[in-house]
Amino acid sequence: MLPALLGAVRRGASVPALQPGFLTALISTTSESLTAAATAAPASAKPALAKPPLYKEFQIYRWNPDSGEKPKYVSYQVDINNCGPMMLDVLLKIKDEQDQTLSLRRSCREGICGSCAMNIDGSNTLACLCKVNRDPGHVGKVAPLPHMFVVKDLVVDMANFYAQYKSIKPYLQKNEPSKGTEYYQSKESRAKLDGLYECILCACCSTSCPSYWWNSDKYLGPAVLLAAYRWIIDSRDDATADRMAQVDDAYKLYRCKQIMNCATVCPKGLNPGKAIAKIKQSLAKGQPV
Ligand code: SF4
Ligand code: F3S
Ligand code: FES
Repeated sequence: MLPALLGAVRRGASVPALQPGFLTALISTTSESLTAAATAAPASAKPALAKPPLYKEFQIYRWNPDSGEKPKYVSYQVDINNCGPMMLDVLLKIKDEQDQTLSLRRSCREGICGSCAMNIDGSNTLACLCKVNRDPGHVGKVAPLPHMFVVKDLVVDMANFYAQYKSIKPYLQKNEPSKGTEYYQSKESRAKLDGLYECILCACCSTSCPSYWWNSDKYLGPAVLLAAYRWIIDSRDDATADRMAQVDDAYKLYRCKQIMNCATVCPKGLNPGKAIAKIKQSLAKGQPV
């Protein structure tokens, strides 16, 4: 019935769709066709077979401050054919099935919260965005973010990082109190925030920066400086001069030596090194560029 109806529509002929009972008949015919098609499925169709196990070794940094033991790498064998595709899946499988004391941070499992940042196979990244290397001969290695104080296993102390972020006042500052309406911004001014506002504060960049490793008490590091520039360049903000003066410091800003590890590792594809260079240019010109 359905092909006949479509043919009639194409020819411009009158369509019986408006006749009483037509729709009921059409639905019943269509559902009969679907049932018949399902019944006629080839008898040879079989459910997909489970993949054979594929075990791979993962070495995970373990340290429990209450144990009195030194940190060490512990080896785990994981069937990666019976596991999700990402490193976070592997870690959670180990935690679920082999050792519930394994500690790590995670929340969104889709690269939004920034909490699963760690060092995987020698590079800082987000475990939830990092695909497992499926070569069973390769040994996966997972460690906490480098040069950070470890709280336990893969969990690091982020207190200094957050205090530095707080120090740059990462919020809109206005001279006049709000009138409860929007602060308008041209499309061109808004576009200047692209590549900056997307930062999820995972700290992959800062903890990959050698300058930050040696001076994390005084150098703000790429993540915080990227955030500082995000507010310096925001046309709606009234504290631009104060913001620029606050970072104009031999340690806070000028410890960046353009090593660019930060841009290489950022899991969101941002370029903190470029933002830092822009702050330096802005200070040289006396206005945001
Ligand atoms: Fe993470 Fe990238 Fe932001 Fe650095 S710039 S904190 S690597 S999202
Ligand atoms: Fe470090 Fe990036 Fe500068 S790696 S030295 S913050 S360019
Ligand atoms: Fe949120 Fe990985 S769990 S970024």
